[in-house]
Amino acid sequence: MRDVSLITRPMQDALRPAGIQAEHIGSLWNLTLGLCSVVFVLVLAACLFAVWRAPRAGAGTEPDVSSLAGPEPRTWRTIKWATGAAALGLVGLLVGDVLTSRALARLPLQDAVNIELVGHQWWWEARYRDADPSREFSTANELHIPVGRPVVLTLRSNDVIHSLWIPNLQGKKDLIPGRTATLRLRADRAGTYRGQCAEFCGLEHALMALLVEAEPNQRYEAWAAQQRRPAAQPTDPVAQRGLAVFLGKSCVMCHAITGTTANAHLGPDLTHLAGRRTIASGMFPNNRGHLGGWIADPQSMKPGVNMPANNLPPDDLQALLVYLETLK
Ligand code: CUA
Repeated sequence: MRDVSLITRPMQDALRPAGIQAEHIGSLWNLTLGLCSVVFVLVLAACLFAVWRAPRAGAGTEPDVSSLAGPEPRTWRTIKWATGAAALGLVGLLVGDVLTSRALARLPLQDAVNIELVGHQWWWEARYRDADPSREFSTANELHIPVGRPVVLTLRSNDVIHSLWIPNLQGKKDLIPGRTATLRLRADRAGTYRGQCAEFCGLEHALMALLVEAEPNQRYEAWAAQQRRPAAQPTDPVAQRGLAVFLGKSCVMCHAITGTTANAHLGPDLTHLAGRRTIASGMFPNNRGHLGGWIADPQSMKPGVNMPANNLPPDDLQALLVYLETLK
């Protein structure tokens, strides 16, 4: 039932940085890997050398332990050198770590896109902030960001501890109830990157994904302008019936659609639902079949989710789906 291809197709790979912050972390990883590889090879070589040098004994001969009685100046010298080298290696890693942290903090923030990201069990609420409140808008589970411009994510949680990890763009940061954290990143290569909740937060923790669409600034601005628009009034009679179903049923208790009277924020904002690639936080493709199943019986698709089942008559459900598909 789960479309795994859709979940794995976007890049989620810390070893292929797509932005300057992930590059800094990637360099630290390369340093650590290189140093640890050298230590690993040296330790193995020392083991092999010790085995090769050990005095041989046969089944019938007494073991020769005479060398254990005398002083071992060479062994002690080797141990001192090895201890010194290990300490030096650790100091090297510490310096690398400090330099990486400083480099991460130095990201220039002029002309930044400010996004407030709230973790919920089990989805991501995103609010694009603006000095002019009329230019703010909300979306869910899918961020669009402009390539080359810094993005400041303000992280909060609505329930339990979550952790945001978009490996191609940045390291992890926890979202802790009652606290606010910030994460700064910049995508330098266009692409679709998959983020994942990285802190166990309940039954569907593993299926709490966030897609990040990094695109040229012009395309990003066009997307943002579209997101700021209220939902179009349906003209088609079936879609009009769908809107009436939406407003007349329990949908309005949790969801908002700008331009209608639906203005609840317990669940994802649906104003431009049809423009998103997935539903249920990156779990299913956003098409009529999956959306219909989701509305009718979300528990069978993502057990434990807060959305209740909606036992709608088939015609109402179809009309509702037609309406939701107009929310581009
Ligand atoms: Cu949210 Cu794990």
